[in-house]
Amino acid sequence: MDRFEDFSSMSAEERQEWTAQAAGLSPEQRELLRQGGGLPLEVADSMIDNVIGTYALPIGVVRGMVVNGKEYLVPMVCEEPWVVSCAEKGAELAAQCGGFHATYTGSIMISQIQITQVTSPHVACLKILEHKREILELANQADPVLVSLGGGAFDVEAKPLDTEVGSMVITQLLVNTKDAMGANAVNTMAEKVAPLLAQITGGKAYLRILSNLAVHRLARVRVSVSREVLGGSAVVDGVLAAHAFAWNDPFRACTSNKGTMNGASPVACATGNDIRALEAGAHAYASRSGVYRPITCWERTASGDLEGMIELPMAVGIVGGTTRTHPMAGLLLRMMHVESAAELGMVIAATGLAENLWTLRTLATGGLQAEFVPSLERRQET
Ligand code: MEV
Repeated sequence: MDRFEDFSSMSAEERQEWTAQAAGLSPEQRELLRQGGGLPLEVADSMIDNVIGTYALPIGVVRGMVVNGKEYLVPMVCEEPWVVSCAEKGAELAAQCGGFHATYTGSIMISQIQITQVTSPHVACLKILEHKREILELANQADPVLVSLGGGAFDVEAKPLDTEVGSMVITQLLVNTKDAMGANAVNTMAEKVAPLLAQITGGKAYLRILSNLAVHRLARVRVSVSREVLGGSAVVDGVLAAHAFAWNDPFRACTSNKGTMNGASPVACATGNDIRALEAGAHAYASRSGVYRPITCWERTASGDLEGMIELPMAVGIVGGTTRTHPMAGLLLRMMHVESAAELGMVIAATGLAENLWTLRTLATGGLQAEFVPSLERRQET
C-alpha cells in the first residue's frame, strides 16, 4: 500500500490523532479538532451581520508539502472530493525531486484614492508627488501599531485617468502590512488622506479602498520533476500539451486556473484568509498582458524533465481578522507552523502549483473521473 492509500484507509479519528501528533497539538487543540465546526454561535455573531447559524465543511490535510526545504502539514477546507488528494500527490512528486522553491516580494498592498473633477490631471499628479512626505505622515497616523512594527505607508504614486465621466486622478499608497492581510489598515489610510488629496488637486474625493490586484505582493514558486518520477516522457508531453492549450485558449485557461486555485483557496479558507480577495487577485493577474492566461507555466528542461512555476498575488495574513476570531482557523494556522504572512503565502502558492501539477498529470493520462470516482464511490458505500 502506498503512503497515500495508507492514510486514506485510516478512519477520520485515526487521521485526527496522527495529525495532532505530527503537528504537536495541545490537549485543548486536539479537543477542538475532535469537536469539529469550531465556531461557537456567539463568535459567529461577532463576525458578520444577521447571523442565523454556522456552516461546516470538511478539513483535509496535505502531508509532505516541502517548500524551501521545510516540510509542512497543509490544512484545506473544501467540498470537492479530489482536491486534497491532487495536492498531496503533486506535493509528493515535488518532494521526491527536492520540493518547491519559493520567494515572496513582500507584504506590500496598494490603497487607491479617486479624485474627480480635476481640470489639469497631469499637473495634479505632480502636485500630489510634491506632497509625498505629508501624505505618508498623515496615512501613517492612521496605524501607529503597524508603523511601530516596521510597516506602514512608504510610497505614493499618482496617475491621471481619462474616463467617460471626465478626468480623474488616482493616488496609490504603497503600504507594508507586515504579517496582516492589511485591508482595514490600508482602507483607513485611504480615508485619512483623501481630504488632503482633494485639497492639493482642487478635486473631489470619491473611492478610498485597497486594490486586490496586489502586484507588489507576489508569491513565486518553482518546481522541477524528473520524467521518471512523473511517469515518463509521454506524461511530460501531456502536461506540456495541456499547458499550451491553456496558454492559447482563455476557455481552457479559466478551467486550469480554477484547478490551480483548487489548491490555493482551500488553504486560505482553512487559515481564515479572504478567499474572494485571493481569487480576484489571481484572475486579474492572469489577465495582466491583456489576454487571460494560466497562472502556472510548464516547460521541458534540456534533459527532458518537467519544470513549472506559479506567480500569484498573495494578500494573506497570519494576524488579525478571522485568523484571530475564528478558533478553528487559528488552530489550523498554528498547525502549519508558519512564522510570517510571507511563509504562509509561499505555502499557499506551492499548494496551488502542486494541485495543478497532479491535475494536469491526471488529465493528460486518463482523466479525473477514471482516477478518483471509483475510490469516492467505495467511500460513500461504507
Ligand atoms: C475541477 O475542480 C478542476 C479541473 O477542471 C481543473 C483542470 O481542468 O485543470 C479538473
